[in-house]
Amino acid sequence: MTGLFITLEGPEGAGKSTNREYLAERLRAQGIDVVLTREPGGTPLAERIRELLLAPSDEAMDADTELLLVFAARAQHLAAVIRPALARGAVVLCDRFTDATYAYQGGGRGLSVERIAALENFVQGDLRPDLTLVFDLPVEIGLARATARGRLDRFEQEGRAFFDAVRSTYLARAAAAPERYRLVEAALPLDQVQASLDGLLPDLLSLLAERQNG
Ligand SMILES: Nc1ncnc2c1ncn2[C@@H]1O[C@H](COP(=O)(O)OP(=O)(O)O)[C@@H](O)[C@H]1O
Ligand SMILES: [Mg+2]
Repeated sequence: MTGLFITLEGPEGAGKSTNREYLAERLRAQGIDVVLTREPGGTPLAERIRELLLAPSDEAMDADTELLLVFAARAQHLAAVIRPALARGAVVLCDRFTDATYAYQGGGRGLSVERIAALENFVQGDLRPDLTLVFDLPVEIGLARATARGRLDRFEQEGRAFFDAVRSTYLARAAAAPERYRLVEAALPLDQVQASLDGLLPDLLSLLAERQNG
C-alpha cells in the first residue's frame, strides 16, 4: 500500500463533507491523486446498504443487524474502492470509517468494543487509517446544523444521550492513540477550521512522500 488512508470523523453537522472537499482541493493543487469517498457507502451496492441503515422505519433495527450491515458495506467499499486506490498510491479521503462504528454502534447503541474489534479484524485485516481527523463540537451545535439541512435520518433522530456517547467515544479514542488522530475544533468559523487543516498539510505531504519512497 503506497497511498495514504485518511478518515474524517465526527457527528452530523461537524463539517466533514465541507472540509473533505477543501482538503481534496488543496491536495489536488499539489498534483496528488485524491479519492473522495464516504461510509456507509462508497460503491453502488454499499450505497444501497447505506439506504437501509439511514431510512427511518417502523421496524426497529436490531443493534447487531445494524453492526453487520455497516461492516457488510465496509467489506464492499474496501474491496472495490479503498484498497485499489491505496495500492495505486492515491490519498483516500473517507467521510467516516470504523471509528464511527465504535462511536455510533459502540458508544451510541452500547455494543461491546470486543464485538466491534472482532469484525474490524475480520473485514479489514490489518488495514487501519493512517490518519483520522476528528471534527469535534458541542452536540447542540452539530444537531442545529444537521436540522437546518433538512429531514433527519434514522441516526439524527436519536436523543441527546446517544450523541453525548458518540462524542465521548470519539474523544476517548483520539486520546488513546494521539499519533493517529488529530482533533479539529469544528465549532469555529469555517475559515478558522480550514486554517487548522492547512496546518496539517505539511505533515500529510511528508507522510505520503515517506510512504511512496519507502
Ligand atoms: N465551521 C462551520 N461553521 C458554520 N457552519 C458550518 C461549518 N462547517 C460546516 N458548516 C455548515 O454546516 C452544515 C453541515 O456541514 P457538513 O460539511 O455537511 O457536515 P457533516 O458532513 O459533518 O455532516 C453545512 O450546511 C455546512 O455549510
Ligand atoms: Mg456529510
